[in-house]
Amino acid sequence: MLESAISCRNITKKYGEHTILKNLSIEIPKGKITTILGYSGAGKSTLMKHFLGLVKPTKGELTILGNEVPNLNDDELRKFRKRFGMLFQYAALFDSLTTYDNIAFPIKEFTKLKKKEILKRVQELLRAVGLSDESLYKLPSELSGGMRKRVGLARALALRPEILLYDEPTTGLDPITTKMVNDLITTTGRTENTTELTSVIISHDIQATLKISDYIAFLERGEIIEFSPTKEFKNTTHPTIRKFLDLTTH
Ligand SMILES: Nc1ncnc2c1ncn2[C@@H]1O[C@H](COP(=O)(O)OP(=O)(O)OP(=O)(O)O)[C@@H](O)[C@H]1O
Ligand SMILES: [Mg+2]
Repeated sequence: MLESAISCRNITKKYGEHTILKNLSIEIPKGKITTILGYSGAGKSTLMKHFLGLVKPTKGELTILGNEVPNLNDDELRKFRKRFGMLFQYAALFDSLTTYDNIAFPIKEFTKLKKKEILKRVQELLRAVGLSDESLYKLPSELSGGMRKRVGLARALALRPEILLYDEPTTGLDPITTKMVNDLITTTGRTENTTELTSVIISHDIQATLKISDYIAFLERGEIIEFSPTKEFKNTTHPTIRKFLDLTTH
């Protein structure tokens, strides 16, 4: 049995009369890349918000890295969230800040590092995502879409997170940039000094998902209808997933 980074047990989430997540259970393994696939409206983002403690389950238990997330108070949540890196759609950089200031932002907020040490860490992070010092003092508008993603990832990695969450990391990108981002997710998730890094991706991009994931979960109307290693997932006989796979791979 693999150790779980995220453990959801019988989670139900209701908004009024609407049940968004239904008695959902999943064990997301530590140190692996897991993708949550599903049609629009299935509840993927809602599930991810539970992971960050932004939303509380109506029923059920959620344990992440040893924390009972719904029971954390505000102060505990703040500390807990430091253990996450989050790469948002379109990278969500601060437009008026340079690469350096974007990446240094969480470091300044959460650590007591001196200026020199911050610069060193930012340079280290830039190299880790395949950028040179040339990008250091450029604004997001002076970078390509792919470079912006790299800066976003460097910022997500700044506090050495244990869990990296990616929300639709390649939606809206051209095929070449998409490939670059996917390669980046794989190398980030697999480099030696990050063997403990758990990556969780939300996606509709089935091709990329099959290439980069260790495990794939399929969420359908608030229920996990399949969760298996990628090889097995490809051969699923579940009709809904077959349809999804066949629709998007031909
Ligand atoms: N705060 C909220 N209040 C009421 N309903 C909500 C709220 N947040 C989400 N929902 C509903 O929950 C359902 C699932 O939404 P969610 O954003 O989790 O879907 P998703 O799988 O991420 O979809 P997409 O792929 O389009 O991003 C939707 O029907 C949505 O309207
Ligand atoms: Mg969503």
